[in-house]
Amino acid sequence: MLHKNQQIVIDTLNIKVNKTPASRLEQTDFSNLAFGRTFSDHMFVADFEDGEWKNLQIMPYGDLPFSPAMSALHYGQAIFEGIKAYKLQNGDISIFRPLKNYERFNISAERMSMPAVPEDLFMQGMTQLIALDKNWVPGNEGQSLYIRPVMFATDPVLGVHASETYKFIILTGPSGAYYSKPLRVKIETHYARAAEGGVGYAKTAGNYGRALLPTKQAQKEGFDQLIWTDARDHGYIEESGTMNVMFVIDDVLITPSTRDTILDGVTRKSILQLAQSWGVKVEERRVTVEEVVKAAKEGTLQEAFGAGTAATVAHIAQIGYESEIYTLPEPLSRKFSNKVSKALSDIRYGITADEFGWNYIL
Ligand SMILES: Cc1ncc(COP(=O)(O)O)c(C=O)c1O
Repeated sequence: MLHKNQQIVIDTLNIKVNKTPASRLEQTDFSNLAFGRTFSDHMFVADFEDGEWKNLQIMPYGDLPFSPAMSALHYGQAIFEGIKAYKLQNGDISIFRPLKNYERFNISAERMSMPAVPEDLFMQGMTQLIALDKNWVPGNEGQSLYIRPVMFATDPVLGVHASETYKFIILTGPSGAYYSKPLRVKIETHYARAAEGGVGYAKTAGNYGRALLPTKQAQKEGFDQLIWTDARDHGYIEESGTMNVMFVIDDVLITPSTRDTILDGVTRKSILQLAQSWGVKVEERRVTVEEVVKAAKEGTLQEAFGAGTAATVAHIAQIGYESEIYTLPEPLSRKFSNKVSKALSDIRYGITADEFGWNYIL
């Protein structure tokens, strides 16, 4: 019998499957999984040529040949997504809200002048790949299968132009439990991650490259991450590292409203929905640096955390701003962020009922 959200893995696209003759599963140490370094046996690959997607195939994970003139390398047409699949308590495999990532992938594609990926290609590629590599979905506490769809421009031609050819690939890999110590973050007042009219809302490679130097500098000063502020006057809070950011001030959950400088996170959306369902007062609006610093000084900043697929909830222990350090209440004592982190985890692992229909069960 099918569950309420159970999907059937279908193949209306006739994806060619070339199975590896030598699985690496046996040699993989599932008790020691460093993020992003272990890949499952297979990957899904499709090519965009002559205005259509073709050569749909699942093949052994491995290197691909590329031209040194490949336009993604020179002009940055490269987008990606980050999704997780979980082994439920009953043994089923569930992907967390993949259609939200699918929508965001095509929002990124449009901004970067890249072709849209059809929903059946994205979803059938992903579900068939995971069904084939189902033994790679780890089952220990806190573990998951990380899913990385990526698209990049492949025209082997120099000269700035929107490429006419692209590759769409889905890779997966088991990932370990995410233990993050509470973060020390610095409110950035010089560098910017994104500007109005730019590409901040797209999950495109350059947004991550440009963040590395400022992040490295903050790390030299003893911080773990940055809180990005608006590019114009650094007066508004935007995101924290590669996460959306949330605050609890006077029992109100406050988070920057999404705009073209902010990535519209799936975790953010899910946390807001849970908070609203619990009757927590939520404000999505522009958030000033001044009000957060004032609340920290006055002791009304009860909680601050980053929200994203990797950590779900990453507590912020200290905030640095203009050479002052503000220490927030002890993370273990924080009511909302601990409750929401557990609630999301319990839904993802099928421990509690999935009332919102977020689990896409294979
Ligand atoms: C810049 C940025 N903001 C926010 C997020 C959080 O988004 P999500 O919850 O969809 O993982 C991510 C991670 O994908 C990110 O890279």
